[in-house]
Amino acid sequence: MKKFPEGFYFGAATSSHQVEGGCINDWSVWEKQNAGRLAAESVKYRGLPSWDSVKEKATDPGNYISGIAADHYNRYEEDFELAEKIGLNAYRFSIEWSRIEPEPGRWNEDAINHYISMIKALRKRKIEPFVTLWHWTLPIWLSETGGIMNKKFPELFAGYSAKLAHSFGSNVRYYIIINEPEIYALNSYMLGLWPPQKKGVLSYMRAMKSLVRSHTLACKAIKQNNPGALTGPACNMSYFENGGGLNRIPAYLADRLWNRFFIERTLKHHDFIGINYYFHNTIKYGLNKNANEKVSDMGWELYPQGIENVVMGMARYGLPLIVTESGLADADDRQRPWYIEETLRSLYRTIENGANLRGYLHWSLLDNFEWDKGFWPRFGLVSVDRKTMKRMPRRESADTYRRIITKGIEE
Ligand code: BGC
Repeated sequence: MKKFPEGFYFGAATSSHQVEGGCINDWSVWEKQNAGRLAAESVKYRGLPSWDSVKEKATDPGNYISGIAADHYNRYEEDFELAEKIGLNAYRFSIEWSRIEPEPGRWNEDAINHYISMIKALRKRKIEPFVTLWHWTLPIWLSETGGIMNKKFPELFAGYSAKLAHSFGSNVRYYIIINEPEIYALNSYMLGLWPPQKKGVLSYMRAMKSLVRSHTLACKAIKQNNPGALTGPACNMSYFENGGGLNRIPAYLADRLWNRFFIERTLKHHDFIGINYYFHNTIKYGLNKNANEKVSDMGWELYPQGIENVVMGMARYGLPLIVTESGLADADDRQRPWYIEETLRSLYRTIENGANLRGYLHWSLLDNFEWDKGFWPRFGLVSVDRKTMKRMPRRESADTYRRIITKGIEE
């Protein structure tokens, strides 16, 4: 048996809009305007192996309204108890900006206290909180004044970050500043899929520029308010595999442009690098040609071993590394136990090869609201019944994870 180093973080992650319920922000507005369209367009998933079991939900407009989500805002104690039973010692969650600053410059102390209670409930269970400051949702007043393209956005974000760091004090050590800046910029500012549905390469570049500056200012604001805090990004990173010969060139360029662009522009502000891993791309004839031997309910290729390449690629910066997300939609839990085991086996190898890897946070603790796909993709280690809100650990995955945490990986 190979045991992970003492103090290794074994956790799970969520984000406010996806689990809390009752959020009133730019996404909740957009959902209402787009639910009918998203339901009608869902026939594009007809080819998925999971289609028969998901079509009823996917074609229902109600699926695309986040509503009470997993009601985690009210049920976090119960959820932390389940996390503790799985054996987790870390939990990543995000703060909902629209609750904290419902109007420009007006801080909602009740909401801040709510998160402080959550943090204390985690600490009581010896679960380390990893706080994400921004996981894509905006207060409505901010989205109506340009969102991340508002010239003042970086300063506004730094003000919000300072307020939180000051309020949380030494209760929080790990801050993940922005979740996947590149995915947000891609979907919201290049492909036009997510609010505010802007399109074009130039708008993508401008969005990234704003997020780089926002990250930088927020890190400084946090350190001013809590010099002991550790700050880092959570970037979406893919394994771009060279499919042979000259394909090494596009594979190299993709790695630089996708995996390393944001990291390198913000590097001196990182105390750790957060890695979100979902995708592997085999580059052949300059294109993505995956074998797709196994796929998730969403049709995403499952290639857990690719995480080793991504982590080793990030080890070059000499910083502590944390896998801040990795997971899959798998309602029946047929592939998740295997996926968790293979991921952790690959991660163990990175430690043997010298990577300073400190933790693994599975996405997700709970079934949640998967953005423009709504509720049909099921990412939870714990399933959530949409009608009763009843939680049930997905037994095999929870057992697999617990076994690895307590005993290690089989050789
Ligand atoms: C995001 C999550 C999302 C997950 C699965 C990540 O890119 O940070 O919010 O649910 O992927 O799509």
